[in-house]
Amino acid sequence: MSDYFTEAGSVEAVNARIGPGTSPRLAEIMACLVKHLHAFTKEIQLTQEEWETGVDFLTKTGQICSQERQEFILLSDTLGLSMLVDAINNRRPEGATENTVLGPFHVDGPPVRSMGDCISLDGKGDSCLFEGSVLDLDGNPIEGARIDVWSDNADGFYDVQQPDIQPKWNNRGLFITKADGRYSFVGIKPVSYPIPDDGPVGQMLGHLGRHPYRPAHMHYIVTADGYQKLVTHTFVGDDPYLESDTVFGVKNTLVAPYERLSGAETLWRSPFDFILCPISR
Ligand code: BEZ
Ligand code: FE
Repeated sequence: MSDYFTEAGSVEAVNARIGPGTSPRLAEIMACLVKHLHAFTKEIQLTQEEWETGVDFLTKTGQICSQERQEFILLSDTLGLSMLVDAINNRRPEGATENTVLGPFHVDGPPVRSMGDCISLDGKGDSCLFEGSVLDLDGNPIEGARIDVWSDNADGFYDVQQPDIQPKWNNRGLFITKADGRYSFVGIKPVSYPIPDDGPVGQMLGHLGRHPYRPAHMHYIVTADGYQKLVTHTFVGDDPYLESDTVFGVKNTLVAPYERLSGAETLWRSPFDFILCPISR
């Protein structure tokens, strides 16, 4: 019995080469990957030309990556893979705030701000008061919760995309709750924007008749000792891209109210509570 490669025995031929010293998890992952990759190739009857197009696409995806740009994550995002991995790894009980994609525009170490501070430094956009509480599953306030928040500006760009145009840390800040668990800050009502679409992922979206837009959202990472890290957004409910987010990040529970105010210090108010899940669950 030979283990030469045959079409029918392709999976076994490759997986039989996994050495005995391989870590069990890596062996499991690679064997399963080969199984599905070969099944896909057989089902679709991939031509040589299509294989070359795929290799070329992956090559270009790698070549455009830099310290500032991660095209492979963008590919994962637009194929729904990032949201699937996130869902598998963040199953939470009813009532806990749901996760969604982190995205490429988070910056570590934002300035710590005081409750009520304004994070919009470029004076653009509709001002909006964001406020609510960080609570546990029983509704008790969480003291010392860290709320790391960031959004695009009114032109649809993050500060890191326009370092020569926007002030550093524009629309970013870190807020730390006191004993009442409350938070509040002034930002802008975010606007929808296209993900970077001048590379291979943008071309792929174009070939598939897909737009590159994300519905307007505010990003949050909420952490507190003893609780699972929450990476999430709140979405603006009347956004035209809510049902076709190019990275599939929208969840019903994350669509927040945006109330139009009159005679107040801000044009809008968006209340939202973050409910954290203890680490043990
Ligand atoms: C974002 O929301 O910042 C984002 C998420 C995924 C891909 C691109 C951008
Ligand atoms: Fe975003």
